[in-house]
Amino acid sequence: MSETQNKSSWWTAGRVLVLGLVGVIIVLGLILIISAVSKSDETTAGPERVNALANSDNECVVCHERNTPGIVQQYGYSTMAAANVECQDCHEVEEGYPGAEEHEGTFILASPTTAMCEQCHTAEVKEFYASRHSLPAFVAYNGADTLPEDLLAQYEAIPEGTYNPDRSRNALFNMEGPAITRFACQVCHSIGRPAPDGSVGRCQTCHLRHTFSLEQVRKPETCNACHIGPDHPQWEIYQESPHGIAYAVDGDNWNWDAEAGTLGVTDFPAPTCATCHMSGFGDAATTHDVGERLTWYLFAPISARRPAWQDNQVRMQKVCLECHNDTFVTDFYSDADAATESVNDIVQESRDLVQPLKDNGLLTDAPFDEPFDFIFFNLWHHWGRTAKFGAWMQGPDYTQWHGAYEMLNAMAELREIVAEKMEAAGLTEAATMEDATADTGASE
Ligand code: HEC
Ligand code: HEC
Ligand code: HEC
Ligand code: HEC
Ligand code: HEC
Ligand code: HEC
Ligand code: HEC
Ligand code: HEC
Repeated sequence: MSETQNKSSWWTAGRVLVLGLVGVIIVLGLILIISAVSKSDETTAGPERVNALANSDNECVVCHERNTPGIVQQYGYSTMAAANVECQDCHEVEEGYPGAEEHEGTFILASPTTAMCEQCHTAEVKEFYASRHSLPAFVAYNGADTLPEDLLAQYEAIPEGTYNPDRSRNALFNMEGPAITRFACQVCHSIGRPAPDGSVGRCQTCHLRHTFSLEQVRKPETCNACHIGPDHPQWEIYQESPHGIAYAVDGDNWNWDAEAGTLGVTDFPAPTCATCHMSGFGDAATTHDVGERLTWYLFAPISARRPAWQDNQVRMQKVCLECHNDTFVTDFYSDADAATESVNDIVQESRDLVQPLKDNGLLTDAPFDEPFDFIFFNLWHHWGRTAKFGAWMQGPDYTQWHGAYEMLNAMAELREIVAEKMEAAGLTEAATMEDATADTGASE
């Protein structure tokens, strides 16, 4: 082997080594960069936030870092922690405070009440109290009878709160019993449940602890905890609406953390539930009164306009007008008003249809004890309401196949039941004909 040969093979080996090292360094560098980037995305509250409790010597924090580290971690990244709001501010109370538990030499509430938030957030609490999310949501399944006098007065003073045209579902509450309803009606309707200290509602049903993040509460999934299912499918409707599609495909790029009251079209190119019903958006002011922008009582069997509907409508339309033009919004409202009235007509027709059964005592007194009761109830409670919600929130499949179509189907079933019951009671067709229901009941 010659020397030159030897030199060149060393040279080649050296080059391979150096190139290999460079390659390894590049790969390692890339891995570092990628992991740094994905770490900064990982933090709960956006890359710019820091854990405000990282060096805290607060005694609750120090001990809870050991036994409930998740809570301390989440709270550490919240804006409230950054503003020096402490565990004690929400949890600590005087001895003897309703619901207080002794804990590590002090007294705490395991579940902070609205009164605790109210110390610092009076405006939000006041608006929340004026809404159907407060006492009306509780009264919906519980009734008003057991409310103490002061809460009864508070309930009765809520402007659009005492309107409850139909309480037939309270029978279901009793039939199912507390073992079931504790996991059903009571979970959703606890949003307005009074606490032992006399304050009302649970802010934490929307503001999931302990991040209390604007991003979380502005996202529609927050509302879908309750606004879902056959009788109030607002979540499903939103998903098929152009607004929901914009959210699903592009929501990752929206400016979720924008300070409350400053939101506008540059932050959100399409609205979420919160944008239309609560957020300050463009010219519309932020509100915790979710009824403040509503024109109709859509949840009712036959919808009536709300007492303050003109003002409410102006407030909702302010939101739409940030993205749509005036004619578009006015036309949309008159079309959706007409759809609401058409659904009202079908529900009225179903009532007229079954009136002869009531007049002739052909219905049992017990609620929900025969198929008739379920069909009659579903017609408005599921299908009628769904048709209206679909029209107002851009869900054509819900207006059509889960709404109007199901109403027609229920009408056909009711017609058959009415005719059978009348016949079995020996009541002639002529008797039925005399009623206003001639065109609906007689042909079967
Ligand atoms: C020395 C440790 C320690 C300190 C200090 C401490 N805690 Fe706790 N805390 C615990 C432990 C342990 C539990 C869990 C008890 C259990 O699981 O039954 C707990 C439970 C709780 C609970 C849940 C109670 C329930 O009934 O569900 C709350 C709320 C709470 N602590 C808040 C606080 C607050 C606020 C402070 C500061 C004023 C504080 N803790 C101080 C150890 C501590
Ligand atoms: C802004 C108010 C607020 C602050 C500040 C706060 N909490 Fe809470 N905490 C709540 C609420 C609301 C709940 C939920 C109660 C419920 O769901 O019924 C809760 C529940 C808890 C629970 C019981 C949770 C469970 O699932 O068992 C613990 C423990 C707790 N907090 C500890 C802490 C600690 C420790 C801090 C400080 C690092 C803290 N909290 C700060 C409002 C607060
Ligand atoms: C001791 C006063 C205090 C208490 C008690 C308190 N907060 Fe706050 N909260 C604040 C302050 C201060 C801010 C403003 C933080 C900021 O924007 O810099 C805030 C901000 C918020 C925000 C907005 C967060 C954001 O990212 O802009 C929410 C939501 C909130 N609080 C909910 C609650 C709820 C719910 C309760 C009761 C369970 C509560 N707060 C109790 C003082 C308090
Ligand atoms: C999945 C959550 C959820 C469950 C479970 C639930 N509700 Fe509701 N309920 C709602 C929502 C959301 C509304 C508001 C519908 C709307 O305005 O479109 C509502 C509306 C109502 C209303 C009409 C409003 C009023 O105050 O008159 C009554 C009454 C009612 N619910 C009673 C009950 C009863 C009784 C049960 C159990 C048999 C029950 N709900 C179970 C979420 C729920
Ligand atoms: C139905 C869901 C819901 C409930 C219940 C709720 N909030 Fe909110 N809250 C929101 C939404 C949505 C926002 C963000 C509004 C926006 O987009 O600017 C918000 C924002 C806030 C803010 C920040 C507002 C600001 O102007 O800085 C505070 C503080 C707050 N809520 C406190 C409370 C308190 C206290 C309660 C209980 C009385 C409560 N919230 C109950 C949905 C809710
Ligand atoms: C924990 C359950 C729950 C959550 C979460 C919830 N709601 Fe509700 N909501 C209800 C109940 C129950 C009612 C019916 C109250 C009544 O009329 O009795 C209701 C009623 C409403 C109404 C009709 C109010 C009226 O005056 O008729 C609107 C609008 C509304 N919610 C919007 C929202 C939005 C937007 C969100 C999310 C930011 C949300 N809700 C989150 C339970 C909830
Ligand atoms: C584009 C704006 C917009 C979006 C997004 C939107 N809504 Fe609505 N919502 C409306 C309008 C408009 C009405 C009908 C108002 C009226 O009565 O005039 C309505 C009606 C309702 C009602 C019926 C209240 C009653 O009278 O029974 C509830 C509850 C509700 N929305 C909840 C939600 C929830 C939850 C979401 C998200 C899943 C949502 N909305 C998304 C605009 C919107
Ligand atoms: C933040 C902007 C924004 C707000 C606020 C907003 N929309 Fe939209 N809207 C959109 C976008 C984006 C689309 C999808 C446009 C398209 O179909 O090309 C849309 C589509 C619609 C459509 C369907 C149009 C079609 O041709 O299919 C209707 C109806 C509608 N919006 C009604 C409303 C109503 C009513 C309000 C107020 C309650 C409202 N929007 C609020 C952005 C918004």
